[in-house]
Amino acid sequence: MGFQERYGRYRAAVEEYLEGLFTGERPYGRLQEAMRYSLLAGGKRVRPVLAMAVCEALGGEPEAALPLGCALELVHTYSLIHDDLPCMDDDSLRRGRPTCHKVYGEAMAVLAGDALQAEAFRLLAAAPGLSGGQRAEAVLALASACGGDGMVAGQVMDIGQLAADEGPLRQLCALKTGALLRAAAGLGSIAAGASPEDRARAEDYAAHIGLAFQVRDDMLDVTADQAELGKPIGSDRAEGKRTFADLLGLEGCAALVAEETRLAKEVATVFKNSAFLLNLADSLAERRA
Ligand code: IPE
Ligand code: IPE
Ligand code: MG
Ligand code: MG
Ligand code: MG
Repeated sequence: MGFQERYGRYRAAVEEYLEGLFTGERPYGRLQEAMRYSLLAGGKRVRPVLAMAVCEALGGEPEAALPLGCALELVHTYSLIHDDLPCMDDDSLRRGRPTCHKVYGEAMAVLAGDALQAEAFRLLAAAPGLSGGQRAEAVLALASACGGDGMVAGQVMDIGQLAADEGPLRQLCALKTGALLRAAAGLGSIAAGASPEDRARAEDYAAHIGLAFQVRDDMLDVTADQAELGKPIGSDRAEGKRTFADLLGLEGCAALVAEETRLAKEVATVFKNSAFLLNLADSLAERRA
């Protein structure tokens, strides 16, 4: 099976799983509507795909990682809803649609994000086919990745303009973007019952992918086509953000993406079943959306 086909299979499983969430009739049904509006808007699903692929590369059944990867996608979606709020990046377009707060109002967007975050931990705590120990490890991995020393810390550095030079900017990206991608590898490893060494290696691979992913995101904010990207172009500049595009220029960014991709692949080659992870690194480095 080729790379695209396998990506498509993982992704289809993710879509089907997410489609089944938050469907019950509720007197407060507008909350479920807002959650599903953002969740089912067709993101790339890179994080759950990565969790499933790592699980498979480390000898597990990819389906074992599906609920864990989808939990991560809930957290990622919450982070995007809040990231787009007027008090953060103040953006009106996401995944090709008006942002959650444009459709449902700011208060409901905040609450939809809050609920998605909590529901993610419910999925982990109740994940089928895993031991109690594996579930607890998964909760710990996700909480560490998205909490006060993880993604949220990266967002604080971002909005506070706390990174002017390359070192701090790398740290910012490692937190705001790298932490969740690294968690995808961690969750996939947990689902596979992988050794600590294999898990550390998979997380190292994802950390390199994570930096490349955010540098590419900064490039696309300058160079992409809005219709293809599904979110506004020039948002970073409009918000006065200092990104890798300012610091290194587009050529410097391309070189950094290439180097981090090379490092990621070097780390992953030792896995027996590494072909998909190597292709994934390349495809993310070249992505146009
Ligand atoms: C966007 O993430 C935010 C960043 C961390 C750069 P993605 O590029 O994965 O967004 P979706 O999920 O495909 O919409
Ligand atoms: C967002 O970074 C990262 C998180 C949501 C944690 P950006 O602000 O660069 O993401 P986009 O460009 O809005 O997707
Ligand atoms: Mg932001
Ligand atoms: Mg943003
Ligand atoms: Mg961006």
